Amino acid sequence: MTTRTNQETVDLADGVSIPLIGFGTWQLTGDDAYNGVRGALEIGYRHIDTATMYRNEDRVGAAIRDSGAGRENVFITTKLPPGNVGRERQTLDDSLKALGVDFVDLWLVHWPPNGEARPETWKAFIEALEQGKTRAIGVSNYSLAQIDELISATGRAPALNQIPWNPFRYDAKEVAGLQSRHVVLEGYSPLLNSDLGNPVLTEIAAAHGKSAAQVILRWHVEHGFVVIPRSKRRERIEENFAIFDFELTPEEMRQLDELGK
Ligand SMILES: NC(=O)c1ccc[n+]([C@@H]2O[C@H](COP(=O)([O-])OP(=O)(O)OC[C@H]3O[C@@H](n4cnc5c(N)ncnc54)[C@H](OP(=O)(O)O)[C@@H]3O)[C@@H](O)[C@H]2O)c1
Repeated sequence: MTTRTNQETVDLADGVSIPLIGFGTWQLTGDDAYNGVRGALEIGYRHIDTATMYRNEDRVGAAIRDSGAGRENVFITTKLPPGNVGRERQTLDDSLKALGVDFVDLWLVHWPPNGEARPETWKAFIEALEQGKTRAIGVSNYSLAQIDELISATGRAPALNQIPWNPFRYDAKEVAGLQSRHVVLEGYSPLLNSDLGNPVLTEIAAAHGKSAAQVILRWHVEHGFVVIPRSKRRERIEENFAIFDFELTPEEMRQLDELGK
């Protein structure tokens, strides 16, 4: 069994620690983005996931500032839209301006541009890291082969790969492939892509007096996968963070892993 605390972090190869649980902000704009992030920070989240494409960086930045949590205590991720290749530096500067910060904690290539690895974009990411505009760099939606292309072109692996993930997508080979390259696995859409009514999930949830969503999120953190659930409802933002007062048994973890087969 793995005891975890709600501020537990995973070390990235860049020497930076990322909180295992974060708050996702896709499709949250305007007041939903502001109130969602304010609520999440009040509840205790210290990691916020945004992207240029989400068009909410200004509201996310305002919420972080107004929360009083302190910039240094909040891990901020943003992402380069694939269509902005060749304009990496400008895009990051625009993100920093919108967020109202001097640096982000993690900058990701949102998708492989045109389905390609694009080492020249990765070189621009390394430059941004060296300039201190981001504390760590990574990718999203990259295959292991594409990650290898980046490594062979630059000698530097992405610190993290943000990919669609949940027990129904569990793939031990993917996990091992990322681990062997020292790339941390961050899962997205943990709830959206899951069948919350699946009996394996609901039985485990009932045994712990928790919801199916909480079991899914707990499964991530027990595996050491970073996870970033999103909700625009305060009670669910709270529910999704209330996963540190129970533990899944090895047998339950095995049953959940099996959903991926
Ligand atoms: N890198 C990428 O390409 C990529 C792609 C997609 C997502 N992401 C990131 O990952 C984050 C999470 O993924 P996501 O937003 O796609 O989906 P998600 O967090 O898996 O699910 C969000 C949906 O689940 C509902 N929900 C939230 N908590 C719930 C609960 N406890 N019980 C039942 N339903 C619940 C939400 O509805 P309510 O709002 O009504 O509660 C919303 O419809 C995103 O916000 C974004 O930051 C990245």
